[in-house]
Amino acid sequence: MELNSKKSESIWILDFGSQFTQLIARRVRELGVFSRVVPYSVKPEEIDWDTARGLIFSGGPASAAAPGAPACDPSLFERAIPKLGICYGLQLYGKHRGGRLAQSHQREYGRARFSRVKDHPLLAGIPDSFDVWMSHGDTLVDLPPGMTILGKTNTVEAAAVADPDRQFWGVQFHPEVNHTEHGREILKHFLYDICHCRGGWNAGMFAEEAIAGVREQVGEKQVVLGISGGVDSAVLSVLLQHAIGPRSHPVFVDTGLLRNDEASQVVDALRGVGVHITVVNAAERFLSALDGVVDPEQKRKIIGRVFIDIFEAEAKRIGKIEFLAQGTLYPDWIESVSVAGPSSVIKSHHNVGGLPERMHLKLVEPLRWLFKDEVRAVGKHLGLPEHILGRHPFPGPGLAVRILGAVTRPDLELLRRADTIYLEELHKSGWYDKIWQAFSVLLPIQSVGVMGDERTYERVVALRAVTSTDGMTADWAEIPHELLGQISNRIINEVPGINRVVYDISSKPPATIEWE
Ligand code: XMP
Repeated sequence: MELNSKKSESIWILDFGSQFTQLIARRVRELGVFSRVVPYSVKPEEIDWDTARGLIFSGGPASAAAPGAPACDPSLFERAIPKLGICYGLQLYGKHRGGRLAQSHQREYGRARFSRVKDHPLLAGIPDSFDVWMSHGDTLVDLPPGMTILGKTNTVEAAAVADPDRQFWGVQFHPEVNHTEHGREILKHFLYDICHCRGGWNAGMFAEEAIAGVREQVGEKQVVLGISGGVDSAVLSVLLQHAIGPRSHPVFVDTGLLRNDEASQVVDALRGVGVHITVVNAAERFLSALDGVVDPEQKRKIIGRVFIDIFEAEAKRIGKIEFLAQGTLYPDWIESVSVAGPSSVIKSHHNVGGLPERMHLKLVEPLRWLFKDEVRAVGKHLGLPEHILGRHPFPGPGLAVRILGAVTRPDLELLRRADTIYLEELHKSGWYDKIWQAFSVLLPIQSVGVMGDERTYERVVALRAVTSTDGMTADWAEIPHELLGQISNRIINEVPGINRVVYDISSKPPATIEWE
């Protein structure tokens, strides 16, 4: 795991498995300081001490009092650098310093009233009493020597503590959660008054450092990357163009399973900002490999295999490739390095299905520390147009998993026509930007209708639109009925072969976003 190499000051967050760890990372960045989340098992030498300004030990579901509780390298607690323990992080530090924990069988979860006991820069300018969000079982009941209480709640004596000689501060509650009043100010005090951060971090700064980082990592070597039409790989390709110019080789495989004009839109936009993209037209290969295949997983496997074959041939054609760049983002990566410890499992569709191993390629993943909205900001900084940056995610297997059953050319055409109308109306009404993903699905059934005096027996299209922050969970979008009505009318009137439109009102879970 190569974690160093960036120049920005940063706060390192040790993740003990709290559901809120990503939120801490986000809050710190919103306050203008770059944050890096690492598993609690991080080795001290993996932390870049030259740029680290402070450590945050996150909360976690385990009991710090239990034998075998997840623990970080104890030398990190002794390190002469400001440290903040949140919930589990505080308890673990307390135990390490010889304090005593009371193990509770019942978790305190929800709002509590915090009262200040002692003035301290961590709580400067904040009222004496305010609401905080709690989620804990254990509490620190006997404080270790040198630690003082700054605040308490009705149930917790040590709700905020300081051990200034060892540069440790701790809170039992979660300042990163919106329900904690003044949580943002507490984190701000930690960053600026205790860690003495300079601040000013933003996506533009990140882009410049990422460019320098790629140059350093890649040297004079050649890099290949796949362009999917999505935001991440588009931003990555521009970043690489800036970093290593002609030594970056972006390849766009047109699978024939894309939306109307999607391939040309992406290619034109990227060429417009100077990316030298190679387009491989492979529709014929994909469609013949998919001929008659109905099972969704089978479709995915076939598409993955053909994609790899084409990509590998292309990389060989370019020659002397040593690196594969991937648009892996922070949520993709952190899933794989979470509390279970580092592992190399990245979502399979990001990993071009084993290509790095097969071709002995090293990975370049400069966007790995970013959230989706930060990637968009980097893209904007690098001059990518809004219509590329604002794009909804699109699955690798494309329309093949939106035509239920076997994929045929006429069905692709039918789906594209309906989908174009759907997206047109969403753009026109301003709904496109309010939702995470919207698309049409062609169902493998026919339904009876009537047009003029004629009875029809034609296909059904399902419209899907969901709101989400990461695609892991999603709600169906409450698009106004009039708009749905208008979309339905247009599709039925303008697309011969479709006589019925339905709207999908399932949330994820238990439904998935895609239908296959
Ligand atoms: P589901 O359907 O699993 O989708 O709720 C979650 C997100 O992942 C996308 N998705 C895929 N992306 N290859 C991809 O690159 C795939 O095989 C795939 N399947 C689903 C989906 O569009 C949504 O954004």
